[in-house]
Amino acid sequence: MLIAQLTDLHIGAGRRLAYRKVDTASALERAVERVNTMVPKPDMVLFTGDIGDLGTVEEYALVQDILRGLTVPFYMIPGNHDQRGPLRAAFPDAIPVAEGMDYINYVLDAGPIRLIGLDSLDEGRPEGMLCCDRLDWLERTLNDGDNRPCVLFVHHPPVEVGIRHMDEQRLLTGAKTLAQIVSARKERIQAILCGHVHRPIHTRWAGVPLIVAPSIAHQVALDLREDGPSAFAMEPPAMHLHRWDEEQHCLLTHLAYVEHYDGPYPFFDKNGKLIV
Ligand SMILES: [Fe+2]
Repeated sequence: MLIAQLTDLHIGAGRRLAYRKVDTASALERAVERVNTMVPKPDMVLFTGDIGDLGTVEEYALVQDILRGLTVPFYMIPGNHDQRGPLRAAFPDAIPVAEGMDYINYVLDAGPIRLIGLDSLDEGRPEGMLCCDRLDWLERTLNDGDNRPCVLFVHHPPVEVGIRHMDEQRLLTGAKTLAQIVSARKERIQAILCGHVHRPIHTRWAGVPLIVAPSIAHQVALDLREDGPSAFAMEPPAMHLHRWDEEQHCLLTHLAYVEHYDGPYPFFDKNGKLIV
């Protein structure tokens, strides 16, 4: 099972540049092309939020246009830049929530593992929240008798990463309860996958790996100073490729750049001798 995680698209209507600088529509087109031409091809794509920049119908129409070219099944959860209603209306197949659900929480059956999407959006606010309803749903889902390994995916990470302006807008409300729910099942939960911070970051939280993916567009500037300003940098766009290895019974995460770089070159010549 190979899962491509693409995050923080920030698509603007009419191909508007994000922050008057980032051509996010072209960035998404390049990321789609990259996924389509991967060998082996990922089994699915998870978009972990900030699909739009303002969350409007027009933005999601442009995302629809671009994703028409994606040849891999895909799923979405919202980020703080999204709006639930327009997102759900635009992508009903990519957001398989149960009838009557107010939030975008759902389970994907990915063969040997289950993928559990969580909606951390608090509309109009940059920080994330998991209210009692959403946490109750998670607890019920994890107690439903299906004991396969599972992976949670949620836009906002619940940890401080040392980048001050992003830490202020991490998952705040509900993070403590989430930690209790996760740590009580740390043998079963393989990882928590997040976006939001626009950088690749790895840690352990509540007893499980917590992995933040870089953006396929712009990255947040790496600035660990106490008074570091809110800023972004045009570092290479990238995605995460999560590979479930059934034999080793573990999830492995690779960083895959969207752009093509020089290579690959062989290490050995045609006689099998190391090239020196
Ligand atoms: Fe974002």
